[in-house]
Amino acid sequence: MSLLGKCYYRIAGTRVGHRAACEGLRVARHFGAFREFHTPLAGTEMPYRAARELMRLWQRVHWSSGDGMMTPEERLAIFNLACSCSASGDIAELGCWKGLTTCYLAAACRARGRGRVFAVDTFAGTREHDTQYASIDRHGGSTLPAFRNFMERGGFEDIVTACVGLTTEVAPRHRTRSFAFVLIDADHSYDGVRDDFEAWSPMVAPGGLVVFHDYAMPDAGVRDYVQREVITRPDFEAAPGEILPNVFAVTRRQ
Ligand SMILES: C[S@@+](CC[C@H](N)C(=O)[O-])C[C@H]1O[C@@H](n2cnc3c(N)ncnc32)[C@H](O)[C@@H]1O
Repeated sequence: MSLLGKCYYRIAGTRVGHRAACEGLRVARHFGAFREFHTPLAGTEMPYRAARELMRLWQRVHWSSGDGMMTPEERLAIFNLACSCSASGDIAELGCWKGLTTCYLAAACRARGRGRVFAVDTFAGTREHDTQYASIDRHGGSTLPAFRNFMERGGFEDIVTACVGLTTEVAPRHRTRSFAFVLIDADHSYDGVRDDFEAWSPMVAPGGLVVFHDYAMPDAGVRDYVQREVITRPDFEAAPGEILPNVFAVTRRQ
């Protein structure tokens, strides 16, 4: 590894590599501020390739609140998890709304130098979606156009596949695939998370991660399901270290 490869700078609470820091400053000067560049992620080490892809993403894709359903910290934590996962295979995102987190996952594929993202959603909202978020009607009945727009702006059309349908109906079409990373963020009820885990976890490679978003969401069944039925399984274990209160990950035993 080159000397520069080991050299990190702390910028706005995030440790980035030397070349990424230079590139970041150049781009920052050109475009003004980065919305998420100021996210504190103390202690995070981000290798050059990851920081470079993140900066490319921030340079190309701009968004406003409501475009994504995660906090900036959560998106970055998920990006870091996807970049650092050593298993090989693709990435699946179950529940992608307009695709902002999908962009981060696609950027992680670029940083990893392999894999593609399968983004699964009805793109037509759900009952949960209508009570918790803005009505799908405000998006003309479908979030797919907004999703495609994000992929186009991010330059990710070649590595992201939009899979339209219910997560459990789409799963059998991917039976022969191997996933390094599955993000579960669709139906947050106990039964919904259970159905998603049961349908998608058989395709997760040894050492691969299943990440649950909204783990700490009140009235959701995510935490209950994970505690009762996932971490007690012989084939999966909790990923080491706390990530964020609302993000929980398990890894398939090698
Ligand atoms: C919380 S949002 C996803 C947010 C996204 N991951 C992000 O970070 O911006 C949940 C999404 O899951 C979708 N959804 C909910 N239940 C689903 C199901 N059973 N099958 C497919 N999509 C579903 C909804 O349409 C909605 O877009």
